[in-house]
Amino acid sequence: MTGRIGEDKIQEIRERIDIVELVSSYLPLKRSGANHLGLCPFHSEKTPSFNVNAPRQIFHCFGCGVGGDAFSFVMRMEGLSFPEAIRRLAERAGVEIEEEQLTPAEEQQRQERDRLLRVSEVAAAFYHQQLLDDPQGAEGRRYLRQRGYEGETVREFCLGYAPDSWQALAEHLAGKGFEPKWARDMLGLVRAGREGRSDYDLFRRRLLFPIQDSRGRVVAFGGRVLDDSLPKYINSPESPIYHKGRILYGLYQAKEAMRRSETGIVVEGYFDQMALYRAGFQNAVATCGTALTAEQARLLKRYCKRLLLFFDQDKAGREATFRAMEVLLAEGLAASVVELSANEDPDSFLAGHAAEELQACFDRARPVLQVYLEHCLALHGDSIEGKARAAEEMLDKLRLLPSDLERDLYLKELARRTGLDEDLLKKRVVPASAAPPKAKVALPPAVSPPQRRPLRPAVAQGGENKTQELLLHLMKINSEIRSQVAEATPADLFSDADRRAIAAAFIASSDEEGRLDEDRLLNGLSEDQKAILSGIIVKDDQALAEYAARIFEDCKRAVDRERLKARNRILQEQIEQAERDGDSVALATLWREKLDISKKIKQRK
Ligand code: UTP
Ligand code: MN
Repeated sequence: MTGRIGEDKIQEIRERIDIVELVSSYLPLKRSGANHLGLCPFHSEKTPSFNVNAPRQIFHCFGCGVGGDAFSFVMRMEGLSFPEAIRRLAERAGVEIEEEQLTPAEEQQRQERDRLLRVSEVAAAFYHQQLLDDPQGAEGRRYLRQRGYEGETVREFCLGYAPDSWQALAEHLAGKGFEPKWARDMLGLVRAGREGRSDYDLFRRRLLFPIQDSRGRVVAFGGRVLDDSLPKYINSPESPIYHKGRILYGLYQAKEAMRRSETGIVVEGYFDQMALYRAGFQNAVATCGTALTAEQARLLKRYCKRLLLFFDQDKAGREATFRAMEVLLAEGLAASVVELSANEDPDSFLAGHAAEELQACFDRARPVLQVYLEHCLALHGDSIEGKARAAEEMLDKLRLLPSDLERDLYLKELARRTGLDEDLLKKRVVPASAAPPKAKVALPPAVSPPQRRPLRPAVAQGGENKTQELLLHLMKINSEIRSQVAEATPADLFSDADRRAIAAAFIASSDEEGRLDEDRLLNGLSEDQKAILSGIIVKDDQALAEYAARIFEDCKRAVDRERLKARNRILQEQIEQAERDGDSVALATLWREKLDISKKIKQRK
């Protein structure tokens, strides 16, 4: 998982990073005993249940169940992968990570990218300055004001203005010592003059939107005319630093709010994104008029669990919605569709309506597949052929759906609406792939207002997991118990795979003398497992230590009892079956076992 970065490097970073200091750079923490407490940044809450434990260097939120080490924290906070988190913390800790040896070509590429990013940044600053206070920018300022935007938005999005001049940018860049080739041949911000004429700027007399990557670096620009002329927007071309399909406009500004609400709003245009942002919906990004790509979907998945598709209410917008749907189904990201009256877009709607009215539209948003079903039915009409066509199209999409529960519900609905036989539809929908369903992406229920969904295990499992976690806590504080568990069959004590893995890690990280190597413990665990473990580690040891042996016995008994109860449930079913079959011989045996088990359960109380 760590690619080319060695365990010892990770260890070195772990030692140098202080998690309290790290977390404090994001949110205020208050000391409380061995822990530091704060408001959880991963779900909204009013009373702090977010614990940071300095001695153990871990965090855990008792409200939403997330937790882990410093790496887990930056991964969640910044939407990073594990290797990226290592690099980020290495930077912070001043630990050198030898990058894999770059070939001369790769090294040149890296320098080139750095240079292009620098040129973009200088260009953005130039355009921004023009819009902020240059006399030439007056027209741009007037245009923005007329659309209801003031200086604050200009600064927040680093908006700019390209003056009505052929060489303003080219000259500015030359003045800063950049060779023409960078902005011209590579970024396309300056165009080559033909037949001996001089080069000229791509953007003239336009309002400029710098397009930033998720780290806030400017990689391209979109420019709007100030009047009704067409094309309304031109965009700088793709370049070594700008791959259209990998960038979402506004992500840098939106990612924080996306993470908090676990929801992202996807719109088409620059102004749509800004209008939403200003109205308090800061979790919006724009696709800039192109079809949503799989890469963009994966990018969004780092920050949120579900999307609201909020495209223009016209034919193009509807088509974009359904194209996005295919990508999102395949990526397992749930999406609902926001609908307004015809020809509105988010920006135009907000020009005439309050934020509360938009929220009401969001609350009414329907799952995209449901909208698609309606669309297919309406499009193909009520004839027999029409219904068959609609069913075929719908089946095509249902094959992409990772949740079989949901697929089943849609099939029922489709059968009801078309009059087709449900079993027939079921048979038709299966073939696609026998591959196991993708990951564990749970799709939220139909209409889902931004609501937090705890990362806790299912309720039915609650009691058993509690016992297993108590067992783990005992293993942590008591080496004797660790060896006892090692001698028992862990699978008997731990029915849950994650908890079983943690138990195994405890055993593996325990040395001859029974000492526990806590860092080793964390290194081998998955993020889910780290979250469970951190919840155990921040708990108070004192209360448990004295009675550890006693409690261990209780736990074993509880595990036993759970197993008996499970057996009992099976027996009950078999008894009912035997009764239906009138099988009196079997019934007698089953009853005997059941009575026996019931007695045992009582004894273990
Ligand atoms: P729209 O035509 O819906 O523009 O295109 P808009 O965002 O509503 O713009 P305003 O409010 O009239 O100013 C949606 C997006 O598609 C891209 C732009 O990113 C735009 O924001 N687009 C559109 C272009 O790149 N070029 C165009 O000519 C038109
Ligand atoms: Mn629009």
